[in-house]
Amino acid sequence: MSSSFQAPKGVSEYVPPRADLFAAIRQAFAEQARLAGYGYLELAVFEDTNLFRRGVGESTDVVSKEMYTFEDRGGRSLTLRPEFTAGVLRSVLENGLHKQGGLPVKVWTTGPAFRAERPQQGRYRQFYQLDLEAIGSEDPQVDAETIAIAWQWYQSLGLRQVRLLLNSLGCKECRPAYRALLQDFLRGLDLDEPTRERIEINPLRVLDDKRPAVRAQLTGAPLMADHLCGACKAHHDRVRELLGDLGIEWEDTPTLVRGLDYYTRTTYEFDHPLLGAQSGIGGGGRYDGLSEDIGGPPLPGIGFGLGLDRTVLALEAEGAEFAAPARCEVFGVALGEEAERRLFALTAEFRRAGIAADMAYGGKKLKGAMKDADRSGAAYAVILGERDIAAGSVQLKDLAAGDQTAVPLTEITSTLKERLSR
Ligand code: HAM
Repeated sequence: MSSSFQAPKGVSEYVPPRADLFAAIRQAFAEQARLAGYGYLELAVFEDTNLFRRGVGESTDVVSKEMYTFEDRGGRSLTLRPEFTAGVLRSVLENGLHKQGGLPVKVWTTGPAFRAERPQQGRYRQFYQLDLEAIGSEDPQVDAETIAIAWQWYQSLGLRQVRLLLNSLGCKECRPAYRALLQDFLRGLDLDEPTRERIEINPLRVLDDKRPAVRAQLTGAPLMADHLCGACKAHHDRVRELLGDLGIEWEDTPTLVRGLDYYTRTTYEFDHPLLGAQSGIGGGGRYDGLSEDIGGPPLPGIGFGLGLDRTVLALEAEGAEFAAPARCEVFGVALGEEAERRLFALTAEFRRAGIAADMAYGGKKLKGAMKDADRSGAAYAVILGERDIAAGSVQLKDLAAGDQTAVPLTEITSTLKERLSR
């Protein structure tokens, strides 16, 4: 029987062994970020509500419908972060990282984010992101670098079916004219009232409408890609050239719009074909005006958020081979009190030598302890009885092959290291 309580609806939780996989893929990302010179940030989980209103945008679903907002005891309006970018930039500015020389500031962070969405497979109210941001450079090489980092991470996990969708959303020079053109086009369509309202507030989002009746009318809509200014076009072409140099394949997707308002120029999504409706496993782009939107100096930036939950689902869907490191390689079985005492110390010695080790506790009998050894997933059992102690040796059992040999106590750690190729 479980307790009287359950986790709140829509919260994605992980327990072993899946949580070990979750932690391992996050660790693999930490390594990619380190290799590319990104420092780690540990951020506030809740922020001033206005940060998201001004940063992410009032007209977005995320801000208008999905935020977990509450008043604290001092009457301040706070919101559980629905995404990381606004908070990262807030922290970079607050801590003056952009003034310490050497732009862009390159940082990454991870943890839970919260959106009050309707829960389903791959869509949760508490979910997890890896977020990486490069702040303070307009160089298209930085755009390509962020994409390459995410791409390399997916590759390192053994994911083979990830698609990269790429677009440019223009800048404050060329987008207003395009926006007006798009509004003219959309106003001529047969649409319901909420969608008509959306045309006036956020017309680009209408391009993202998934309903077939709307989709059918959108063929022939003007596309941002055809209306980029010279500087945006040059920037976009350069990003594509650089991706080509890196051997990264992408799909030009002129209808790609993102759900957050801060995007400018380069925008992208990573999509996984086996995940159905929630196929967006990651997304990112430039936000050259965000710093000013939240009261900071002009500071262009780019980054991405990768969904950890959906990445786990993608790994499972592909049957990818990536696995968490073993939690137990050697399992100790002691027969008798004295043997237990010695084995306890030996287990600690194994761990100091970098071998994942565990043992049967509670004075278990041989049969039960051997069952525990099998269940532990260990490759070897180390069995110690009165007679072994007298002989100064232990029994080393290969749990897969079943064979057992006596090994001198003084040599057991080095023997195990050799067998586990350490
Ligand atoms: P986003 O596209 O809203 O972008 O979220 C990024 C990723 O988080 C999505 O591709 C998806 O994998 C995952 N995700 C979002 N919502 C949920 C959910 N309810 N349940 C499970 N997974 C989810 C951002 O958040 C931007 N801050 C990314 C960014 C960083 N852009 C620039 N820098």
